[in-house]
Amino acid sequence: MGADVLRRVVEHLSGLDNAPASGNVDVADLCRRLAEPPPDTGTPLDQLLDPLFNEWVGHSFTTTGPGYMAYVPGGGLYPSGLAEFIAATTNRFTGVWQAAPALVQLEANVLSWLAEWMGYPTSARGLLTSGGSMANFSAIVTAREHHLGERLRDGVLYTSTHAHHCVAKSARLAGILGDRVRVIGVDEHCRMDVSELADAIADDFDEGLRPFMVVSSAGTTNTGAVDPLEAIGDLCEARGLWHHVDGAYGACFHMVPELRPLLAGLPRTDSVALDPHKGMFLPYGTGALIVRDGELLRAAHAGHADYLPDLNAEFYDPSQYTPELSRPYRGLGLWLPLKLYGAAKFRAALAEKRELALFAAEALSRVSGIVLDAPPQLSLLAFHLTWPGASTMEENEATDALLARVLQRQRVMLTGCQVDGRHLARICVLSFRTRRRHVQNAVDDVAAAAAALRAERGVVA
Ligand SMILES: Cc1ncc(COP(=O)(O)O)c(C=O)c1O
Repeated sequence: MGADVLRRVVEHLSGLDNAPASGNVDVADLCRRLAEPPPDTGTPLDQLLDPLFNEWVGHSFTTTGPGYMAYVPGGGLYPSGLAEFIAATTNRFTGVWQAAPALVQLEANVLSWLAEWMGYPTSARGLLTSGGSMANFSAIVTAREHHLGERLRDGVLYTSTHAHHCVAKSARLAGILGDRVRVIGVDEHCRMDVSELADAIADDFDEGLRPFMVVSSAGTTNTGAVDPLEAIGDLCEARGLWHHVDGAYGACFHMVPELRPLLAGLPRTDSVALDPHKGMFLPYGTGALIVRDGELLRAAHAGHADYLPDLNAEFYDPSQYTPELSRPYRGLGLWLPLKLYGAAKFRAALAEKRELALFAAEALSRVSGIVLDAPPQLSLLAFHLTWPGASTMEENEATDALLARVLQRQRVMLTGCQVDGRHLARICVLSFRTRRRHVQNAVDDVAAAAAALRAERGVVA
């Protein structure tokens, strides 16, 4: 069975360079047909794998492909997939240290490497999660527990209009209801407005509420904006608030010493969420939260029962730092590729992705009709299409049409966002498979679509 699965996986991956940027996902009828009652009898593996690989997998965005520059890519490193296979089939219990001490130590190593790359002290501790959303959730729980204890209702959390939607969702799940979440405006670069933040905090203190946390972004999903982390850090320090940074998209760039100035202030934060399934190219299912004062993370998550082995003081015990007990052994998926390739290769890949985004921005700025609204702060850029006399509504329709035409070529997949009523197209370069020629394809396809759309609107080139 293993050999059969591996053969099909390798065949699938070998075809990625020529695969369409997205399969047909308009398949509601197929999904209705796929719904079925529980199977009572078995089916030969081949008959299950054939439609899986030949049909169903293909009805999806090709997130592993080199042309995937939509949302926030990652790619899905093959050795990490092998690590997940090993972890699942050896199926050791890594919820508590005593059940698999050496395996848990490998995960602890990975967490301490991440902490070091974020510029955190050795007192930092962390956890591997299913992704950025859960990492942000655990951060909010930790800050809430530390600052508010059991009196949640007057605690106030601050974030920006461009924060990922999981921040407000996580706040609600953590018991911080919508009327205690302040959504702060942004400046012309889509970064949190620190003076508005300061005013909002001051107003809430005056009202007798308890401001306790700011969630800033190190790379927003919309335009890749990095909030002014230093200034927010100063304010949080002065007013005694927890500063968490959602670095699900961007924090991994802090691994690269020469890019650290782009994320200045990150090492001062109280906690950071990062997504190795984005910035370290892993398969979906691995996020991370690192908390500067590891004791506070432990205080929020510790728990014990007499059917569990005794706690040890010396070693990292996942059950004391995470909401989970039984859990996938996520650490191996990071440990294996990091040991196999070495961190230098990851740094080089991240630096290359930024260079490619700068290259795309420079090339697009020379395309007639393309307005670069957000040049890359990290590796994401956003732009729209215009022509003389165009209204915002016409530009919005044309930019949407541009995205659709680019996808029609099936070489690259891009997605858009909306900022202040304006529709923007985005290019996010973060897959390890995306190289210069693929970014050139993106630029060429945008340029061709822009020229065609402008010509259709009677614009002379
Ligand atoms: C800035 C940001 N935060 C949080 C998330 C949520 O991460 P996940 O999808 O891993 O839960 C994303 C996902 O794209 C993101 O870009």
